[in-house]
Amino acid sequence: MPRVAVIPGDGIGLEVMREAVRVLEAVESRFSPGCELVHWDLGADRFLRDGITITDEEFASLSNDHDAILLGALGDPRVPGNQHARDILLGLRFRLDLYVNYRPAVLLDPALSPLKAPGDIRLDIFRENTEGVYVNLGGTFKEGTDRETAIQEDLNTFTGVERICRAAFEHAVKRGRSRVTLVDKANAMPAAGRLWRRVFALVASDFPDIDTDAMYVDAMAMDLVRRPTRYEVIVTGNLFGDILSDLAAELVGGLGAAASANVHPGRHALFEPVHGSAPDIAGQGVANPLGAIASAALMLDHLGHAEAAQAVEEAVVAAVDGGVRTADMGGDRSTEQVGTWIADRVLSG
Ligand code: NAI
Ligand code: MG
Repeated sequence: MPRVAVIPGDGIGLEVMREAVRVLEAVESRFSPGCELVHWDLGADRFLRDGITITDEEFASLSNDHDAILLGALGDPRVPGNQHARDILLGLRFRLDLYVNYRPAVLLDPALSPLKAPGDIRLDIFRENTEGVYVNLGGTFKEGTDRETAIQEDLNTFTGVERICRAAFEHAVKRGRSRVTLVDKANAMPAAGRLWRRVFALVASDFPDIDTDAMYVDAMAMDLVRRPTRYEVIVTGNLFGDILSDLAAELVGGLGAAASANVHPGRHALFEPVHGSAPDIAGQGVANPLGAIASAALMLDHLGHAEAAQAVEEAVVAAVDGGVRTADMGGDRSTEQVGTWIADRVLSG
C-alpha cells in the first residue's frame, strides 16, 4: 500500500487538507486498499514553537519512506519572510528535483469564467520547475545607490528542457491530446529560445502523432483570454509557466479549485492546491477545498489508482454542478460541507 506524507501546513492549508483526507478515507473504504496517510506537523506553528523549519532527517524520510507528498499551503504572517515556507516547499521542489510542475485548468461551469464565451477549456500546463530565473543566479551591484544594477540570470540546460518537453509529450499521448504548444520569448531572449526550440523539435520527433506549435508568451497571454479552447498541452519555462497557470486558473473559475503536481517521474511527487494559506479567510471555515481534493485525485492517479482518481474527479464535478460550492464560487457551503458531500459521493459511487 502506498505511503503518503500529508503536510497540511498553515492557514487554510489545514482546513482544505482535512477535507482532502476525508475524501481519501472515503476512497479507501470503497477502493481498498487505498493509501496509508502519515501526518507531518511541518509549518509555521512548529517553526515558532521549536525554531525548526525542516531537518535533513525529515527531508530524507519524506523522500525515501513515502510514495507521495500531499501538501496544503505554507505561509504565515507571523514568520518574517516566510522562511519556513521557503525551506520546506522550495526545499522539497529543489532537493527532490521535482522538475515537472503540472497544472491542469478545466472549466467546470461556464458561469465561473470571467470570459463571455469560454467554451470547453481544458488546458494542461507543463511548467519547468527547477531552472529559469528562479535559480536565483546573479547579484546586485552598487546596491542602494542611483547606479544600482540587479542581474537575475535565466538558466536553461539541455537536460532541463529535454525532460520537461518529454513529460509534456508523454502526457499528451497518455491523455489522448493532439497538440503540444511551446511557449517562450525566443524573439527577445534568443539564447534560451534557440535551446528550447531545438530541443522541443528533437523531442517532438519521437512523437510523430502529436502536432506541435510555438508561441511567444505575450501572444499566448492574449490568446488564452481570446480563444482558450485552441490550446491543449502547453510546455514552458519556470517564469512563464508560473504566470500562465495563474491566468489559466482564473479563466476556469479561480484559484480555489486549481490543483497541481510537482513530479520527478519515477522518483518523487508532491501534490498541492495552487493557492496559498489565505490568511485573510483562515479559520472561518469558508475556504474552497476543491483545489486540495483535485490535487489528491492527481495523486491517486499518479499512484496507479486511476479508478479512484476518476471517482474523486467525478464527485468534484457533481458538487460544482449541484451547487455544493463555497463562497468564492458563488455558493454558501462551508469547507467541511463541500468536503463531506464529495466524500459521501465517492462512497456511494
Ligand atoms: P493566497 O492564494 O493564499 O490568497 C489569494 C486570494 O485568494 C486571497 O484573497 C484568498 O482569500 C483567496 N483564496 C486562496 N485560496 C482560496 C480558497 N481555497 N478558497 C477561497 N479563497 C481562496 O495567496 P496570497 O494571499 O498571496 O498568499 C498568502 C500566503 O500564502 C503567503 O504567505 C504566501 O507566501 C503563501 N503562498 C503559499 C503557496 C504554497 O504553499 N504553495 C502558494 C501561494 C502563496
Ligand atoms: Mg504562482
